[in-house]
Parts: sequence; C-alpha cells; structure tokens
Amino acid sequence: MEKAQIKDFPYVVTPVVLVATEENGKINFAPHGQYGSILAEPPIVYISVIKEHLTAQNILKTKTFSINIPDKAVFEKLLHCGNVSGIDQDKTKVFKTFYGKMEVPLIEECKINYACEVVKIIEIKYCYMFLSEIKEIYIDNNCLENDMPNIVKIDPLLASIGGKFWTINELNK
Ligand SMILES: Cc1cc2nc3c(=O)[nH]c(=O)nc-3n(C[C@H](O)[C@H](O)[C@H](O)COP(=O)(O)O)c2cc1C
Repeated sequence: MEKAQIKDFPYVVTPVVLVATEENGKINFAPHGQYGSILAEPPIVYISVIKEHLTAQNILKTKTFSINIPDKAVFEKLLHCGNVSGIDQDKTKVFKTFYGKMEVPLIEECKINYACEVVKIIEIKYCYMFLSEIKEIYIDNNCLENDMPNIVKIDPLLASIGGKFWTINELNK
C-alpha cells in the first residue's frame, strides 16, 4: 500500500476523559486526551497535563485526582471545562460529585470513575506526566452486563483530528 507522510496530526483518535481534582475545597474539572494505560496489574495509568493548568497545580499538591469517562450527555459541560481554566473561573459546580474512600471527587454524571494516586511524575517539555495507580473504580449499575463493563452502554467519547468527537455507538452504525 502506498503511504503519505504527514506531520500535523500525530493523533488520529484518542479517548477523552474528564479529570477532576480538588484543592482547598475547590473542585476542578478538565477534559484530557493525553491519557492511557501503562500497566494492568497493578492498574497504572498516565495523564499528561500542561504545567500552567490548574489541574496540574492541584495534582502536584494533593497527589490525587480522578479520571471519569464521559459520554455525549455531558458533552457541552466537557467543552466548557476545556474552554476555561479553573485559575480564571471556579468550575466546582459544573458537575455533581461523590466520594469513595479517598478524598478525591468523582463525577456522578460519568458512568465510570477511577480514583487515582500519583506514583511518579515525569516532566516532559511543557507538561507533567502523572503516572498513577487506580485505587478505586466505580461504574453505573446499568453499564454492567454479567458483572462486566459493557462498552456500548458506557459509550465513551473519542476525539479526532480537526476537533471532532465521536462515540463508539456512532462509529458502530
Ligand atoms: C478534547 C480535549 C482534550 C484535551 N486534552 C488535554 C490534555 O491531554 N492535556 C492538557 O493539559 N490539556 C488538555 N486539554 C485542554 C484543557 O482541558 C483546557 O486547557 C482546560 O481549560 C484546562 O483547565 P484547568 O486549568 O482548569 O486545568 C484538552 C481539551 C479538550 C477539549
């Protein structure tokens, strides 16, 4: 097959997650596409966060955050959180939150929630890469099938080139 070499779009598709942090009673939310798993056992994931963002500053202080899997029902709120920084505007009330055992806010309107604890921080250019262990996982009951998460019911958001978003179900149609 003939290939064309391109330079502008290294990531054709990436999952989008909502990262929630809390510092001094103020909760913050921001969408992240630079996210992925590193190890299955123990479950270690990474997010890569621009150093100036409130998300990065909060995680440096608390060493905890949550990863929440959004679907299209929270799309407008997700875009809002991606458009404004918590440094300029308090985003505490954008989502309803709940807590598990850790002192980290989890987003009620997202079907899956991971409470994470930082195990290593890598500085890479203008970002901090937070390598973190998932300590607690929550899932909406109606997204389980035979006690296993069902990806079609979870219907996670994917981002692609040109600022476009997709869902698994729409891709399946
Ligand atoms: C789809 C999408 C993916 C994003 N991915 C990242 C990312 O991986 N890392 C990052 O630092 N910012 C990312 N951003 C930008 C932040 O979400 C945005 O700058 C946000 O306002 C930062 O908020 P904060 O300062 O409250 O943390 C993304 C935005 C969108 C819309």
